[in-house]
Amino acid sequence: MSAHDHDFPKTTVTQFLIALLGGLFAPGLVIFMIIKMVLGIQATHLIDSDPVVATVKVVERIRPVAEVSLSDANAGPHVDKSGELVVKEVCSACHAIGALGSPKIGDKTAWTPRLSQGYETLVSHATAGIRQMPARGGNAELTDGEVAGAVAYMANQAGANFKAPQPKAEAAPAAEPAKK
Ligand code: HEC
Repeated sequence: MSAHDHDFPKTTVTQFLIALLGGLFAPGLVIFMIIKMVLGIQATHLIDSDPVVATVKVVERIRPVAEVSLSDANAGPHVDKSGELVVKEVCSACHAIGALGSPKIGDKTAWTPRLSQGYETLVSHATAGIRQMPARGGNAELTDGEVAGAVAYMANQAGANFKAPQPKAEAAPAAEPAKK
């Protein structure tokens, strides 16, 4: 009995020390990782604050943008986007869901009475705007040809067979909407 009495507290102390070490080690590890992270962030900032490195980095960051605008400037005369693309980018904002009471793309019931006005009238309405339909779909940068192409594309989705005016430059292979 006395031997047992003696052993018991010893084990408890050992266990206590192990638990204490473990308890200190876990938060210690976390603190160590946080310090490493902060040092790592500071190291990146130090490199950035070097004027030469910073300049190189800025140039690298803006280069894609600069290249795009350069190639745009070299592209020469404006090439009209295809009707399909204009519809996707501009007109579908309303016409895909019939917003504001717009005739939905592909909805023959909505489009048929409008189609009977004829292509020219539809194009002039789309260009100048009519009631809730904003001029050029609200995008003043669209050319006449792009608006006309978009009208043809949308109307043809509803069964019309309008022919979009030929784009000015011949570099638009997608100008002819694929027959479906
Ligand atoms: C802000 C929403 C909106 C956008 C964007 C929009 N439309 Fe419309 N569109 C309308 C509405 C609303 C009508 C129905 C107007 C009415 O008849 O009262 C309409 C009607 C039309 C009509 C039929 C006009 C007629 O005389 O019946 C055409 C064609 C048309 N839109 C073409 C376009 C084209 C092409 C684009 C893109 C360049 C475009 N729309 C973008 C809202 C929009």
